Amino acid sequence: MKSPLTLLLTMLIAMLVSHQVSAAKCVAGKAGAELSAEEMTALYNCLHPKLVQAYGKKGHEVGAAYGDWQAASLRPVAPGVHSGQYLMTYVNDTGYADYIRFSSDGSQMPVGTVIAKENFTIRSNGKIKRGPLLIMTKAGDTAGETGGWIYSGVKPNGKVLKVDGKGFCHACHQAYPTQDFLGYPVPDARVTGN
Ligand code: HEC
Repeated sequence: MKSPLTLLLTMLIAMLVSHQVSAAKCVAGKAGAELSAEEMTALYNCLHPKLVQAYGKKGHEVGAAYGDWQAASLRPVAPGVHSGQYLMTYVNDTGYADYIRFSSDGSQMPVGTVIAKENFTIRSNGKIKRGPLLIMTKAGDTAGETGGWIYSGVKPNGKVLKVDGKGFCHACHQAYPTQDFLGYPVPDARVTGN
């Protein structure tokens, strides 16, 4: 049976260790909506390499590759005001130039395009929760039921995320038929200069 002193010491050590762990992680310190642009950039500069490492650590084809791709948004953005969920979209070389046209003219992305969207939540206490990397791969006719796209994902432990591409992902993405079923980042966060 542990003495009260031992218990107290154990608690103190646990607190110290957990503090070190959170310092080694990236912490926003406050809700995402309260972060200035500079604070968001600093946070993302800390977070991005850790996400790249996490999604790639089991050698997933896209999770291990997307860290070399170009970003299609200027900074992580939260599409919903209250969700606290932040997204950052990367596109491989095959599709990048087409993607950043953010076209609505019905044109199609080239076969071989792969789009990977990082996804993390900033909780109201400023802690970060990593979500899955969501992926769309343009396969063309072989994926005719889902607009030519194959939907997939990787979890932050590097393992494959099981997705219902047709019933869940495409069920929502089919709302954008003139954009080759792409939703695009919010307009003021889009990369410009194409
Ligand atoms: C409820 C609607 C909805 C569902 C369900 C959904 N998405 Fe999306 N997705 C969007 C919207 C809207 C965007 C664009 C804005 C953004 O990035 O959130 C998007 C963006 C994306 C992008 C970046 C390319 C683009 O469209 O501009 C990828 C990759 C993606 N989603 C993959 C997936 C995958 C994989 C699933 C299923 C696991 C999924 N999505 C489910 C609505 C949805």
